[in-house]
Amino acid sequence: MTNQTGTAKLSFGDKELELPMYSPSVGPDVIDISKLYAQGDVFTFDPGFTSTAACDSTITFIDGEEGVLLHRGYPIDQLASKSHFLEVCYLLLYGALPTAAELEDFEFRVTRHTMLHEQMIKFYSGFRRDAHPMAIMVGVVGAMSAFYHDSTDIADPWQREVASIRMIAKMPTIAAMAYKYTVGQPFVYPRNDLDYASNFLHMCFSVPAENYEVNPILSRAMDRIFTLHADHEQNASTSTVRLAGSSGANPFACIAAGIACLWGPAHGGANQACLEMLKEIGTVDRIPEYIARAKDKDDPFRLMGFGHRVYKNFDPRAKVMKQSADEVLDLLGIENNPLLQVAKELERQALEDPYFAEKKLFPNVDFYSGIILEAMGFPTAMFTPIFALARTVGWISQWKEMLADPKQKIGRPRQLYVGETQRDYVDVENR
Ligand code: CMC
Repeated sequence: MTNQTGTAKLSFGDKELELPMYSPSVGPDVIDISKLYAQGDVFTFDPGFTSTAACDSTITFIDGEEGVLLHRGYPIDQLASKSHFLEVCYLLLYGALPTAAELEDFEFRVTRHTMLHEQMIKFYSGFRRDAHPMAIMVGVVGAMSAFYHDSTDIADPWQREVASIRMIAKMPTIAAMAYKYTVGQPFVYPRNDLDYASNFLHMCFSVPAENYEVNPILSRAMDRIFTLHADHEQNASTSTVRLAGSSGANPFACIAAGIACLWGPAHGGANQACLEMLKEIGTVDRIPEYIARAKDKDDPFRLMGFGHRVYKNFDPRAKVMKQSADEVLDLLGIENNPLLQVAKELERQALEDPYFAEKKLFPNVDFYSGIILEAMGFPTAMFTPIFALARTVGWISQWKEMLADPKQKIGRPRQLYVGETQRDYVDVENR
């Protein structure tokens, strides 16, 4: 924690409290209320944590008003265009860009852990063929704690490191196998001569019956999707991982909890929901009807891929994603893709609409990612597992940072209780 840089005065009833304030390296100051209950006998009330910083962190910074996203200080657009996913993984995990030798060593370590324990593969056949791959991911990642006993002791830095490398290395294998299982094709084992993104495409799309050449442009687009999803500060799934980890749970259990949280349509599940929405709209002439529905207070429909808790400006990831969508569709010769036409026109009309302008609703990362993934050949159900695969490094980096923090304690929010006060039990015959 930085040194105290100010004091906030809070008065209520007959109490007057002085609360310490801290200044971040960039972003708004924070008021430290950790002693508020002890000193003032009151809690704060902040459902959805809209004004609450739950930790200090050095990993990722977002300026939602300006549409800025930095990992360890580096802007996401620079990382997406000049770096690659495994280098970004190193940056997030260890805090600095690697030297050539450090990168080579890191890539070697990740590559040597890509295979799953052979017995884990039996887990898949316990699922129905129509299981959502996110359900399989939650189960299989949680089950890793039953297979890798030598990396579940969170007090041992070496075990924490091995668990981290294992999850980054195995997540593509786990996700690809979930896909292969649901389409009834044989599992394809990882190939360590391929880079991270190419290996994932190979495990998803190659079949034993014929040769599969990974297209380098698609592999680059895949890598960029991974990079754009690598971390995003204290979002719902990351906070879930931190909360699970705060009890001392093992790393595989914590990441499984993060995957479960990511699944929801307000979070990582939005990429699937967005593509389904674009398909439902179908043609540009139907866009006004859907915009009207999104604005209607009595209709629960929302424009998926629009809006963000933190960004009140363009999501910087969406800008890169839109450019990537153009490149990939162009490469595949489907630049007149009707979904892309609907997406672009929907974006244009929404941005011109006063409702979206007033509420500062802009396209988020999920608005264009589904179009790219579908063009690559992924079914919609695989979009969120791909997000989970990429976010694993962010979750792990945040989990490791939390464990190394001397201030770390079990997360335990309080509540504003509005239920019954104490009353006496009534026997069933008297109710
Ligand atoms: N379509 C129509 N109206 C919206 C939308 C939308 N997509 N998003 C927010 N609003 C309205 C909302 O109805 C509310 O209006 P009012 O003030 O009149 O009640 C206002 O904007 C503020 O919305 P909120 O729900 O209070 O804001 P939030 O910060 O709690 O929610 C959100 C953020 C991302 C959950 C929300 O914008 C949303 O549901 N978006 C669609 C789902 C989506 O694309 N999620 C992906 C997020 S980015 C990927 C990730 O990080 O997981």
